[in-house]
Amino acid sequence: MPLLRAGAVTKLFGRLVAVDRVDLVIDAGEIVGLIGPNGAGKTTLVNLITGIEPPTSGTLVFDGTTLAGLRPAAIARLGIARTFQIAQPFRNMTVRQNVAVPALFRANPAAGVGQALGEAGAILDTVGLGPKREFSARALTTPDLRRLELAKALALRPRLLLLDEVMAGLTPAEVDAEIAMLRRVNAQGITLLVIEHVLRAVMGLSHRVVVLHHGRKIADGPPARVVEDPGVIAAYLGNRRPAGRSG
Ligand SMILES: Nc1ncnc2c1ncn2[C@@H]1O[C@H](COP(=O)(O)OP(=O)(O)OP(=O)(O)O)[C@@H](O)[C@H]1O
Ligand SMILES: [Mg+2]
Repeated sequence: MPLLRAGAVTKLFGRLVAVDRVDLVIDAGEIVGLIGPNGAGKTTLVNLITGIEPPTSGTLVFDGTTLAGLRPAAIARLGIARTFQIAQPFRNMTVRQNVAVPALFRANPAAGVGQALGEAGAILDTVGLGPKREFSARALTTPDLRRLELAKALALRPRLLLLDEVMAGLTPAEVDAEIAMLRRVNAQGITLLVIEHVLRAVMGLSHRVVVLHHGRKIADGPPARVVEDPGVIAAYLGNRRPAGRSG
């Protein structure tokens, strides 16, 4: 049984079809990359899986449980965590306190604040924020806020983790460190769906890559095959002017 199965999932915003009959299967242990030009429907798909918005039609099943009608908190307790493209930490709390909060509210919560803070410290070491654990969240840079988003999601002890552009704004060296870190997270048994515009990162990290374009799934396969897919190349060239061409 797949960990996640989406069947013909569709989301309309008025007349705009943001997600168009997407079928998607994610098996336990996989790292699946989700790519596509701006506005392709990637974040919307994550919002549907996590219950932020209801699908207009279609089915979503996680580990045998249908997600229809479940609120985001209930879906998180089933074992699905996500990061947000725009981080929204508790700005008046420390970095470590921010991570302790989900540890206290997940399905099998930490026994108390002390234990939650201890766990939070270990998770912050994993994501590279250990030295900044006592900083106020408001003092973090944008890349560090993305690491904090990841740490908060890990504190839920998810089985499936959906990452929405956690590498945006990182230097190439930081991207390499992030890839290594996500591989360690996956090796701990956490299945990953990774939305990323840094194609080098998503192609190097993912076992399989899914491409959305205008809400439709236009490719699904090993990275080496997907990068050579004519439909994928056309989708990208149609949205980004190729280097060295004018007009
Ligand atoms: N709440 C909403 N109301 C109306 N339209 C929306 C809403 N959310 C998203 N859209 C539209 O749905 C389409 C898909 O948006 P979405 O944010 O899912 O794309 P994306 O692939 O995540 O893009 P990006 O790479 O820029 O983050 C876009 O046309 C967007 O403007
Ligand atoms: Mg998005």
